[in-house]
Amino acid sequence: TEAAVDFVIDEKLADSIFKPRQEFSHKGTYGKVTIAGGSYGKIGAVVLATKAALKTGAGLTFTLAPECGYAILQTSCPEAMFIKSGTRYIENIEAEEGMVYGIGPGLGSDSQTEKGLLHFLKNYKEPLILDADALNIISKNPEYLRQVPGKSIITPHPREFERLFGSTENSFERLRLAIEKAAEFNIYIVLKDHHTQIVTPEGETYYNITGNAGLAKGGSGDILTGVLTSLLAQGYSAKNACILGVWLHGKAADVAAEKYSKESMLPTDVINTFGSVFEELN
Ligand code: APR
Ligand code: MG
Repeated sequence: TEAAVDFVIDEKLADSIFKPRQEFSHKGTYGKVTIAGGSYGKIGAVVLATKAALKTGAGLTFTLAPECGYAILQTSCPEAMFIKSGTRYIENIEAEEGMVYGIGPGLGSDSQTEKGLLHFLKNYKEPLILDADALNIISKNPEYLRQVPGKSIITPHPREFERLFGSTENSFERLRLAIEKAAEFNIYIVLKDHHTQIVTPEGETYYNITGNAGLAKGGSGDILTGVLTSLLAQGYSAKNACILGVWLHGKAADVAAEKYSKESMLPTDVINTFGSVFEELN
């Protein structure tokens, strides 16, 4: 396959994908999300992903996290419901019908968590989002990647990509490898970087030009996971969820940078800026 960038994501493309809220609708119209992640000391990661899912329109949002995150999540995200698994680490993920899962932020790599995730993947067949430590767990054995449901989305940063698929000489070779792997495993790969690239199982590549170095802070990636899970649950196709989600994430970061500066803007500010970006799309 040719490793060329096929499409640049601009506002026009994002706008053509975006579906405005329908007046005659209810929470069931906008899907059910579960963000699964968090471990002792990393509950903030699921707080951010959960908030991002809430602030990008999901109908019903759940957070599946260990008990140590209970009070934190119920306080910081009162709109989300809490599903307990384990005490300090997630021990298992119980699949529920009609739920869209985003798994990984702050998950940690406890052996029980690893067993729980692998068991879940063995039995689960619907597209989902995998990020961060979920990807690190899957990196441990090439067979694990085969368990990932078709049409799922993975969101590796360059190191996570390398752990999954091996190292490459340069970003051109990395893109070529991503195209190969997206087809082989029938998955969407969101290659996170300064300019994030989306690779589809069909070999198309989308290049995002929103976003800035203000995102170079822990927690920025966790937000993207929440956004993608939310959009998938709202009925966007995996491809459109990736395109719109990556664009939104970067655009909100650009607006937040103008207001707060790249230095001071926080992932939380990006979450609170989604609103003004939606206003532009509407
Ligand atoms: N320019 C534009 N975008 C950027 C830049 C930059 N200079 N730096 C980062 N970003 C964007 C990326 O495109 C991505 O969407 O911010 C996000 C960063 O995501 P991650 O690298 O996954 O970082 P994050 O998840 O916030 O880190 C928290 O999760 O993945 C684990 O090991 C990771 O411990 C870390 C934790
Ligand atoms: Mg990350």
